[in-house]
Amino acid sequence: MCGIIGILGSHQVAPQLVEALKRLEYRGYDSAGVATIDDAGKLDRRRAVGKLVNLSDRLVAQPLSGRSGIGHTRWATHGAATEGNAHPHQRGPVAVVHNGIIENFKELREELVAAGYSPESETDTETVAMLTAKYLADGLTPVEAARATLSRLHGAFALAFLFEGESDLMVAARRGSPLAVGHGDNEMYVGSDAIALAPFTDRITYLEEGDHVILTREGAEVFNADGRPVNREIAQIDVGATTIDKGGYRHFMAKEIAQQPAVIGDVLSHYIKDGRIVLPEGLDFRDTDRLTLVACGTAYLAGYVAKYWFEKLAGLPCDLDVASEFRYREPPLSDKSWAMFISQSGETADTLAALHYANGKVAKTLGVVNVGTSAIARDTDIALPTLAGVEVCVASSKAFTCQLTVLAVLALKAAHDRGRLTDAELASHIDDLRAIPALVNQAINIADECQELSGWLSESTDVLFLGRGPLYPVALEGALKLKELSYIHAEGYASGELKHGPIALIDQHMPVVVVAPRDELFEKTISNMQEVMARHGQVLLISDAAGIREGGDGVRASLTMPTGGGIFQPIVYAVPMQYLAYYTAVAKGTDVDQPRNLAKSVTVE
Ligand code: AGP
Repeated sequence: MCGIIGILGSHQVAPQLVEALKRLEYRGYDSAGVATIDDAGKLDRRRAVGKLVNLSDRLVAQPLSGRSGIGHTRWATHGAATEGNAHPHQRGPVAVVHNGIIENFKELREELVAAGYSPESETDTETVAMLTAKYLADGLTPVEAARATLSRLHGAFALAFLFEGESDLMVAARRGSPLAVGHGDNEMYVGSDAIALAPFTDRITYLEEGDHVILTREGAEVFNADGRPVNREIAQIDVGATTIDKGGYRHFMAKEIAQQPAVIGDVLSHYIKDGRIVLPEGLDFRDTDRLTLVACGTAYLAGYVAKYWFEKLAGLPCDLDVASEFRYREPPLSDKSWAMFISQSGETADTLAALHYANGKVAKTLGVVNVGTSAIARDTDIALPTLAGVEVCVASSKAFTCQLTVLAVLALKAAHDRGRLTDAELASHIDDLRAIPALVNQAINIADECQELSGWLSESTDVLFLGRGPLYPVALEGALKLKELSYIHAEGYASGELKHGPIALIDQHMPVVVVAPRDELFEKTISNMQEVMARHGQVLLISDAAGIREGGDGVRASLTMPTGGGIFQPIVYAVPMQYLAYYTAVAKGTDVDQPRNLAKSVTVE
């Protein structure tokens, strides 16, 4: 979602702003812009719709000079992706960039219109610039005007303000959306994340909820939600961990799929040492009788797989919900239960709000989070890192399989704590889990076959994915991946549910991807597959060699998966889901790493 950068630097800042915005591209955006203050103190801006290259072209044609500036990548919420709606929004002597939503912007706008201000865009953000300009016109200093504006805003936001004639001043604030301050040598920075700031500094302060900060080149003064000055830690970040390059791959997605054996291996080394599960203190599953899993999108589907594991292995009842439904349904939560929030970014607005709803109502909140400095990691009682490393492609791949791996470890711990697994059975499951990186590595070898199949899928308008048991959420993930990457309509169904309605869709044009390892549910899934083929549905069967041998007659195509992994096979079967979507998107020529309309970190509800 929107990305923010602000620099009080010592060099021409426009190229630096664009460089930082490039590192925020992965968040998803549809327009971009920068504003600078030149050496005479004049504030000016350039904006462009579409990719950053359009903004760069604009800056070549109409350069901006100056050593202080702000920049923004916009993911449209209020108003279409037009140049007029792109940030920075400037009103007289103030320019503003914003991530989030100003919920009371309509009433503020009415007040400003009554005071003689005319909106020039359809955005909520412009109201912030207008309001600050009004306070400046009323005689407040820039810092006072920014503070007065912040006190009027409702909603979730990260904001940065730049003022004409004030080339050594920037004000920034965080409420609900992430914001980090970077400390340089006589240079200061603000950005949506450490990735944006990494080319400039490795010394970062993460602002807390409600903080605002006054930046000059000499340093940062941080004030908390009550307006009191506070000391916030300056952390040394590992710049290497923020590296954003494709490493020779054509797309970040291809790189991230290929990284999975290594990062899943990292997760296992972190959580399993000398054959024993090692988790933070306070995770004894005898202390709870119910687990609530909450997440969005792919992270929700990781939770869906985990529900099967927790219930089957540990006998622990699990409720599962998408965060946007959970937060408003006001579900009753027992004070003995635990609630777990799964998120790659750790900033997803709905998941964060669901966590805040659960805090205080349940005995413990757990986070399974990839970004360790994120709000969900900070606000849960116990945060378990996913350790996938930076995931740049908007569509999640390695974060999903790493989430699954962490959840698998937790399910085993729960099963052992609750007396459902003997030591020997636990050891056998741990062996299954430790086999996963090698199995995922073998699964990666089916990339070429998935590429061959992509010609067929890319010509389809609809695709069905079927699975049973813990492979059902994998089928859902296959459909989600295909939709978001290739824009082909796809649905995932529990195989047994097909005859209750969706079977009406089947004809000779319909590709049906059946995910069915040779397990105890195999025969039932294959029967459902036969029902599809009897209606001329075109089946792609994904199974192991034995499964293809037994069930593969009459299918249009098959993919042979490695055997092994026991109950944790869903992690391995995620790989063909990813490659089918990836190569279909490549065949269709869509924007694989930044699909239209999508954002990586969804910080609005
Ligand atoms: C993944 O491919 C999706 N782009 C999306 O569903 C994502 O998983 C979802 O928005 C949740 O994000 P989070 O994990 O950062 O909370």
